[in-house]
Amino acid sequence: MEVIICKDYDEASAKAYEVMKEVISAKDDATLGLATGSTPIGLYKNMIKDHKENGVSYAKCHSFNLDEYVGIDRNHEQSYYTFMHENLFNHIDIKEENINLPYGDDQAACDAYEKAMDGYKIDIQVLGIGANGHIGFNEPGTSFDSLTHIVDLQEKTISDNARFFNNDMNLVPKKAITMGIATIMKAKKVLLIATGANKADAVYGLVKGEVTESLPASILQRHPDVVVVVDEAAASKIK
Ligand code: GLP
Repeated sequence: MEVIICKDYDEASAKAYEVMKEVISAKDDATLGLATGSTPIGLYKNMIKDHKENGVSYAKCHSFNLDEYVGIDRNHEQSYYTFMHENLFNHIDIKEENINLPYGDDQAACDAYEKAMDGYKIDIQVLGIGANGHIGFNEPGTSFDSLTHIVDLQEKTISDNARFFNNDMNLVPKKAITMGIATIMKAKKVLLIATGANKADAVYGLVKGEVTESLPASILQRHPDVVVVVDEAAASKIK
């Protein structure tokens, strides 16, 4: 695991893009594993800028997102489908038919997503991290063997995400569909970005803690190619 400590969010976003660019420069038909949350927005801005200014193209790329809420429509303003279009897809040349996000609330939807990913090995999986160490929506206690599955969101995740739903926890979906831990571990390379002091404990667990299902991100210590990009605040407990 390579840990890169940056001064702040902007520097972390630029560094994360360097890691991403290395992958897409080497392979113009790369398969990208993408994430939502506020953390990767800076990375996506760098991707958009380099596409617009220098023509870096995603026309041959495929993408698979980590997760999606259950119980809200894809076109809901807070769906991850909408988020990805607003923050990335609408501004680059990736083809709509090459974009994949999980969707649905049953095992058939989970199986269909795993099947869709089968033919495409994810070249780089972007991850944020929850304050409780979750990746995707794999909450503490999720089996390391899990594939795409439906989850009940934990109270902490619901309250953390309430800021996107008028600060009203009642409006936050209580379930999600997410790639599992075993799905994430299949990616060739993982790029995890964490910024802000509220991520310091999770980053400690990720980098220096025991590998345990109580802190899902800790499994990444066993992945052969992980780059962790953090800012000073998120790195405060690992220094
Ligand atoms: C959500 C997403 C995660 C993300 C996490 C952290 O729970 N499902 O993929 O990593 O939030 O979000 P943020 O980057 O906004 O702190």
